[in-house]
Amino acid sequence: MADAPFVPPFAIGKGSGTASFRLKSIPRMYSTRSNVLASSFMPNSNTNLDLALEDMLEQARQAALHSYSPYSGFRVGAALRLTNGAIVTGTNVENVSYGLTICAERAALVTAVSQFGPDIRIDAVAVANLNQAASPPCGACRQMLSEFILPDAPILFPAADGERAMPFSALLPLAFDMKLKS
Ligand code: THU
Repeated sequence: MADAPFVPPFAIGKGSGTASFRLKSIPRMYSTRSNVLASSFMPNSNTNLDLALEDMLEQARQAALHSYSPYSGFRVGAALRLTNGAIVTGTNVENVSYGLTICAERAALVTAVSQFGPDIRIDAVAVANLNQAASPPCGACRQMLSEFILPDAPILFPAADGERAMPFSALLPLAFDMKLKS
């Protein structure tokens, strides 16, 4: 008998197999220690965004103004909030070889580690672009973030129909990890 199909922990709307980011429903994965997270389940409207996330979004937009993106013209900014309260921003830095390009999220991450050391923990992320386009963090950035981020950290990003927030664990439910057996 064939294995049961993999059922993701959250349902993606508009039929399966589409690239849509509209969520039909997400189980409540967040802690309730702060209502920062409640905005994830609201309709897409800035009026429902938590003020802290809104402030981070603005900082991400400011960072995007520094983007070095002569090849794509796509200007991205990211703001990470650390558990020590610091907000660290980054922007995308492209290279003519294309493949060496660093995304805004990873630029912010390496800046955060450089400034605060290897024990940092990220508890919220905001991503913005200046191109009025959807830009959820790419897979490489999700994988990099996974080593430093709290699973229930809200990730705010531009979706097709406006800002959307999701817990990190829903964006990357199965990060690569390596447990060596001795
Ligand atoms: N980019 C980011 O900064 N973050 C992402 O998550 C995806 C893409 C940048 C990389 C490149 O400079 C431009 O967007 C177009 O892909």
